[in-house]
Amino acid sequence: MDTTTNLESNVETTAPATSTAQGRTYLSVLDLTPEALEACLTLAARLKRERRLGADAPTARALAGHSLALLFDKPSLRTRTGFEIAMRELGGLVTCPPSADALGTRETLADVARTLERWVSVAAIRTFEQSRLVEFVQATTQLRVVNALTNEEHPCQALADCLTVRERCGSIRGRTLAYVGDGNNVATSLTHAAMMLGMHLRLASPEGYELPDATVTAARQMARHGAEISQGRDPVTAVRGADAVYADVWTSMGQETEATDRRAAFEGFRITRELLAHANDDVFFMHCLPAHRGEEVDAEVIDGPHSAVFDQAENRLHTQKALLLMLLGAA
Ligand code: CP
Ligand code: NVA
Repeated sequence: MDTTTNLESNVETTAPATSTAQGRTYLSVLDLTPEALEACLTLAARLKRERRLGADAPTARALAGHSLALLFDKPSLRTRTGFEIAMRELGGLVTCPPSADALGTRETLADVARTLERWVSVAAIRTFEQSRLVEFVQATTQLRVVNALTNEEHPCQALADCLTVRERCGSIRGRTLAYVGDGNNVATSLTHAAMMLGMHLRLASPEGYELPDATVTAARQMARHGAEISQGRDPVTAVRGADAVYADVWTSMGQETEATDRRAAFEGFRITRELLAHANDDVFFMHCLPAHRGEEVDAEVIDGPHSAVFDQAENRLHTQKALLLMLLGAA
């Protein structure tokens, strides 16, 4: 198995709590240097252009001899299927052990990691606590490990989001994105990426559902190219003059028992046509999907001319391909 990688890392300085293995993990956007993040987006854009070449694409056999294990503790369409197609289109193999076998109580996570390490090059894991990913990584020395969503972060989503902003705006630096809703996993990874790439971020969340203070403080410290982050309670203030407006579900996977309380708390944080009217004229609406029409976003917004949500969904594939190539030193 190839053990080289050109994925650089700044985990020592910015994310010691979540990341453990320089260069072979993507547990957090913070596992990339800003330069590696930019390079990943540039590579993804190239892969997107070259996809029409099919089997004649320069990368069609790039990961031949490599296998990817998908270990998912929670449902997924985009992340899971995106990784499957990505790996196959790069010439590699995919295996999907049932989550009860790989992430359940049958054996320790460390033993699962040590077994898989003998067979596969990469594991993409969707689970609950981020600490489970760290535990998995610590048990291996070779395996590349990707966070396919945890309660705390969703770094693969942030790659597709940034590629979408870059496509729509021509560049990311200096743009303003308003995130209205829960300060959750998607918001956290988006914050990391925005600060690293120089995009201003304005968050509006109800009391008690904000991005953690520590995340905002760390974001300010890592901000580049003058990127600013603000957090408040008023969606109109956040959206005013924004280039993009982002929403995610009010109740994330694993929080289903809180759904009623959350619906009450988030009323007033729905993305409506009236709210969007406060943004720039050419504003676009973003959502990681799956979405709940009539809850966090009105149907006429997500299904309307300003919606970029299926560009984001498509870009999951291209960015996950780029990530796999970088992690395996084949970029
Ligand atoms: N946005 C996203 O991660 O979608 P899935 O949950 O379908 O993978
Ligand atoms: N915040 C959502 C994102 C789903 C892609 C969740 O964790 O369920």
